[in-house]
Amino acid sequence: MTRLILPDLTRFEEWRDLLTEMRSETDIPHGSGMWEVDAGITEEGLAQHIIVSAHLMDTSRPAPQGRVHATQFWVTDDEDRLVGFLHMRHELNENLIDRGGHVGYGIRPSRRREGHASAALGLALEHLKALGVDRVLVTCDDDNVASAHTIESQGGVMEDVRNGTRRYWIELA
Ligand SMILES: CC(C)(COP(=O)(O)OP(=O)(O)OC[C@H]1O[C@@H](n2cnc3c(N)ncnc32)[C@H](O)[C@@H]1OP(=O)(O)O)[C@@H](O)C(=O)NCCC(=O)NCCS
Repeated sequence: MTRLILPDLTRFEEWRDLLTEMRSETDIPHGSGMWEVDAGITEEGLAQHIIVSAHLMDTSRPAPQGRVHATQFWVTDDEDRLVGFLHMRHELNENLIDRGGHVGYGIRPSRRREGHASAALGLALEHLKALGVDRVLVTCDDDNVASAHTIESQGGVMEDVRNGTRRYWIELA
């Protein structure tokens, strides 16, 4: 069963292997939140990433300038192995409405087409519903067939394509 867990410093080696595999393909999909790794794929880098992520999800403090509150998740499989990342924005700002949406994700190349992205997005929808969000925006590049299928599998209805980005809404009734 696919699960969403919070980043964990004690799992540095697994995280390093996951990130290294994902970076070997192209760059990490920005929407998955991993742009926060400023200090590189090191223990210090993960520690910093966890601090930044903790701040971003802490709704008792204002979000950093220009950002909205968000939760960084790691995606795991039924044996608790790391298979990807998911970044869930709690609300939308101007930039997210146009392009980023509420949820971004990436699954490591060796574990694709096993249903993890669809399941992870479904779990994120439950989290967003619990936060009081009733309409979720998920976007993907117009030519990203895999991501478009993932969004459609979770009930996404396309509104439009803006500058090459497909914009889908998912109603959480
Ligand atoms: C997009 C991505 C997350 C999909 O992950 P995944 O775990 O392989 O997706 P799933 O196994 O849940 O499959 C979801 C749907 O996409 C379809 N799909 C997956 N890969 C596909 C591909 N390469 N071509 C066509 N369809 C594909 C599946 O058949 C499934 O469709 P269905 O529900 O109609 O059967 C993964 O390809 C990825 O990480 N890509 C790079 C990063 C990225 O593009 N992230 C999204 C940014 S918006």
